[in-house]
Amino acid sequence: MQLAFDPRFGDFDGEDPLFSQIADDLQSKAWSVIPSALPPALAAALHQQLMSLDEEQFARAGVGRSNDFTLNSFVRRDEIRWIEGGTDAEKDWLQWSNRLRLFLNRRLFLGLFSFESHFAHYPPGAFYKKHVDAFKGNPRQDTSNRVLSVVAYFNPGWLPEDGGELALYDEHQVEPFLSVTPAFATLVVFLSEEVPHEVRPARRDRYSIAGWYRVNNSLNDQIDPPR
Ligand code: OGA
Ligand code: MN
Repeated sequence: MQLAFDPRFGDFDGEDPLFSQIADDLQSKAWSVIPSALPPALAAALHQQLMSLDEEQFARAGVGRSNDFTLNSFVRRDEIRWIEGGTDAEKDWLQWSNRLRLFLNRRLFLGLFSFESHFAHYPPGAFYKKHVDAFKGNPRQDTSNRVLSVVAYFNPGWLPEDGGELALYDEHQVEPFLSVTPAFATLVVFLSEEVPHEVRPARRDRYSIAGWYRVNNSLNDQIDPPR
């Protein structure tokens, strides 16, 4: 079957099997975990960049708008670096993320408008306590407008004793329903408001990208900050 290419939508992904699986999973259960998901060349390029970054090129991550170092340290101990498209690997990542955005908008009518993402380094002992990436209810309360969360992992040879699992929770359950190994090229996608999650303490250096698709909630003349 020949499908028309509409330049308004950028690259046309038709029935890309990976994107289709993510859409199906989100529709049926609000989350998707797919091992070996990232295109190999993209995963390799991002991994190479991560390995070339120095410790000083990461910044300690904060919580919401808080500058309280003690509070932040209690909640999360990772170090982050925002992805702005400064390298070929970053450009390829942003392009791939944008293709996923357009695909999901077309398939699920999510109205995803923008994307932000950062590299994250969890040194040994680092964790991120149970949280949601966006709060239900008042959409302006946390000013994030995050709808969909994406996490990708860059840890070749990760072993069970290395810890650092991503635990996913049902909102109404105390115990997690899934524990994800942060293995190389594994991709996790979930609805930001629906899936509480936590990063268990890592016992070796753990690398990931976390990203969020947002809707455009600009009201009147209040323009949303980009992040
Ligand atoms: C986050 C997050 C998970 C991970 O940054 O909000 O939940 O596995 N990250 O890095
Ligand atoms: Mn999170």
